[in-house]
Amino acid sequence: MRQANRIANLPPYFFAQLGRRIAQLTKEGVDVIRLDIGSPDLPPPDFILQELYRSAADPDHHSYAGYYGIPALRQAMADYYRRRFGVVLDPNTEVIPLIGSKEGIAHVPTAFVNPNDVVLVPDPGYPTYRMGVLLVEGETYPVSLLAQNDYLPDLEAIPQDVLQRAAVLWLNYPNNPTGAVAALDFFERTVDLARRHNLLVCHDVPYADVTYDGYVAPSMLQVAGAKDVVLEFNSLSKSYNMAGWRVGMAVGNAEAVEALALVKTNLDSGIFRPIQDAAIVALTGDQSWLVERNAIYQERRDIVLVALEKVGLRAPKPKAGLYLWPEVPTGITSATFASRLLEETGVSITAGTAFGQHGEGYFRISLGQATDRIHQAMDRLVDFMEKAKR
Ligand SMILES: Cc1ncc(COP(=O)(O)O)c(C=O)c1O
Repeated sequence: MRQANRIANLPPYFFAQLGRRIAQLTKEGVDVIRLDIGSPDLPPPDFILQELYRSAADPDHHSYAGYYGIPALRQAMADYYRRRFGVVLDPNTEVIPLIGSKEGIAHVPTAFVNPNDVVLVPDPGYPTYRMGVLLVEGETYPVSLLAQNDYLPDLEAIPQDVLQRAAVLWLNYPNNPTGAVAALDFFERTVDLARRHNLLVCHDVPYADVTYDGYVAPSMLQVAGAKDVVLEFNSLSKSYNMAGWRVGMAVGNAEAVEALALVKTNLDSGIFRPIQDAAIVALTGDQSWLVERNAIYQERRDIVLVALEKVGLRAPKPKAGLYLWPEVPTGITSATFASRLLEETGVSITAGTAFGQHGEGYFRISLGQATDRIHQAMDRLVDFMEKAKR
């Protein structure tokens, strides 16, 4: 069999590979605690499930459900943006539902990047921003997110020749993996840079509603004139505990929405109707349960912070998102630390380098596990670190 040249440079998806090793350890009897993958462990509330069941029982809801999402779903997404961010969107031209935001993110390069164009990607950053670019033979330029800059990129430090060739800038706040957040003035500077250099800014906000200590995350579309240059990706995966359902959205610049929709309508056939109906109920129904859900994550965050402090591993206290981003102990690489922790204690975390070269020296802990399992994992981490000191 002959394979396409373009996949020769495509590395295996990190979590797919890690999953195989974990399956093997589990088969050998190891009790693995997965703090690597960012999937919520809690289900959505009953009223969302009831809508899924109701809609699935309708015999007319099993055919293709349309390419652009049903109008009521696009309207619910626009209503969510108005309620949550005060952003007004035209549901017919500025909203396109996605089969999970990863699907839309992976298709961005197909719609906006020519061979040899540059895509600016955060480093560390969500790997899918980079991978789709490899498939269209574009180039990625890593924009460093450093602790000393509170994990915000220094946009003015991007070389002029790179900016000239750049088609897309990816940003993601609240940030995966660092847990950093960005304020509106940073988004204003980003929109200004994008205007000057004719860039499409793709802002990815799947963690906008997973927040702590009263923090409220903004949308980049709150910036005046942002719709000229911004396409924002959002998702029900983390916000509404619906990661496996596969429903998200891209919203903002109408031309960009249309271009992405053109790619999508040629490649997929939309979202299962009952999932669309349940997503409408999630976005427009009672939101009060999110407060309780976030309180559960916040408690887990604090359990992890106490354990890290006990063993002298420094980590910022995130205001949002599902992750902590501690430094690895001195004298060990991220990959060795992650693999020793897994092999010796059964605790699976993600080496920072899975997110880019600036992830070296860090690891990521996800809060998407039951609180008692997080406790157990932290006990094992503390033992491991104390043994290593002896
Ligand atoms: C930053 C970021 N963007 C996008 C996604 C994809 O989310 P989904 O495809 O489930 O909407 C994830 C998932 O972990 C993520 O962390």
